[in-house]
Amino acid sequence: MTEDPAAGPHVSIDAIAARFERCAATIGVVGLGYVGLPLCLAATEAGFAVVGFDIDADKPAMLMRGETYLEHIPAPAVAAMAGSGRFRATTDFDGLAQVDAILICVPTPLTRQREPDLSFVRTTTQEIAKRLRPGQLVVLESTTWPGTTDQVVRPLLEALTGYRSGSDFFLAFSPEREDPGNRAFSTATIPKIVGGDGPAAARLAEALYAPFVARTVMVSSTATAEATKLTENIFRAVNIALVNELKVIFDAMGIDVWEVIEAAKTKPFGFTPFYPGPGLGGHCIPIDPFYLTWKAREFGIATKFIELAGEINQQMPGFVLDKLIRALDTHAGRGLSGSRILIVGLAYKKNISDIRESPALRLWSMLEARGARVAYHDPFVPAVPATREYRTLQGARSVALTDGTLASFDVVLIVTDHDAVDYPAICGSAWIVVDCRNALRSRGLTAKIVISA
Ligand SMILES: NC(=O)c1ccc[n+]([C@@H]2O[C@H](COP(=O)([O-])OP(=O)(O)OC[C@H]3O[C@@H](n4cnc5c(N)ncnc54)[C@H](O)[C@@H]3O)[C@@H](O)[C@H]2O)c1
Repeated sequence: MTEDPAAGPHVSIDAIAARFERCAATIGVVGLGYVGLPLCLAATEAGFAVVGFDIDADKPAMLMRGETYLEHIPAPAVAAMAGSGRFRATTDFDGLAQVDAILICVPTPLTRQREPDLSFVRTTTQEIAKRLRPGQLVVLESTTWPGTTDQVVRPLLEALTGYRSGSDFFLAFSPEREDPGNRAFSTATIPKIVGGDGPAAARLAEALYAPFVARTVMVSSTATAEATKLTENIFRAVNIALVNELKVIFDAMGIDVWEVIEAAKTKPFGFTPFYPGPGLGGHCIPIDPFYLTWKAREFGIATKFIELAGEINQQMPGFVLDKLIRALDTHAGRGLSGSRILIVGLAYKKNISDIRESPALRLWSMLEARGARVAYHDPFVPAVPATREYRTLQGARSVALTDGTLASFDVVLIVTDHDAVDYPAICGSAWIVVDCRNALRSRGLTAKIVISA
């Protein structure tokens, strides 16, 4: 551990900043999931000492053994981190007292009533407050509504410790822009938005991140940084909804939306391609926009675009189901009840194992509710883990894509287009393929009957 940067309430900003700039500080990362683990790797690789904290005891234990639990984070990278002598992971939060900066990367889901659930952020803030010492920098990285750092985290820390933000301790918000499975970008190469609670916090946060990210982008406040993250995710949610709506319209007109997008994107300006799909998934795009909706109500403002986008995206599994039923009816002369359906790709997006909010799970339960017999194939999800909404699916196992297996299903439903799926085998043996991702055509493949959905 590094030495105490400043004893007593009068801290030297210059001294702390200099230690951050030299990577001579210890960073605590709270929450070792999709966001926290890559941050640990990037900071350790840059030369910082890092302590990872998580309430799930399996994660620190696996990391200390040099094992990975995220398929896009290679085990050798974790092993190198564990063996560097600069990393440890623990469930013991007392270690928070020894670090110089604390990065909060805990979940920010929605409640059952679809309102922001800041309970993880609050619990973590309380744990930090118990050990907060002068000179520490605390950065919230979890996605949340504009004002959370200022109106929730700061008051909690100040009330529980008697310290003041900006003079005793320092507080900032810096959103994570992690894109799991995207090999072109990583924590270290994605510019980092940083907003401080006052100039001292901004300076310290910039000094902390600069050694391990490509570029820091300073904004004027924590609320601006929070709003920037939500803007990025709302931009995606709304544009995906737009192409999903176009998909339904063009489908009715007999026009292929995928061909339209390929043609439109040849325009060198003024058009950004987004792609239709079976509905939104993951911990970000289906959830984050509603953090703004909730906060906007306080100002008497309706977030119409966000609500409409949510509505359209929510309807996509129903559209897919309808297409599948019609395909069975037209090409197999049978109804859904008793039919065998193979879902290909359970994760919410390609080449990762994350099934949170995955439309594949929703489709699975919709199909079963109509009497279909469902199985799945996903090279990244060997067995269905526990989920809050789909308990009955837990433990189901991915089936192998053999010719015999494929031929035994009435429909193969491609929900997520992982690269590692044997698409030629599907084309060779499947009877009807319902393809939500243009997976076959984009690979120059075709099957006996292919329905785009
Ligand atoms: N997954 C992404 O691609 C992504 C991208 C950008 C931003 N974010 C945001 O980052 C935040 C974290 O998301 P994630 O995907 O990493 O979540 P995650 O579920 O993968 O990881 C969160 C981790 O926090 C741990 N945790 C929960 N409560 C805790 C507590 N009180 N103390 C310590 N650890 C605790 C969990 O055990 C888990 O390991 C969210 O706000 C999310 O919206 C996620």
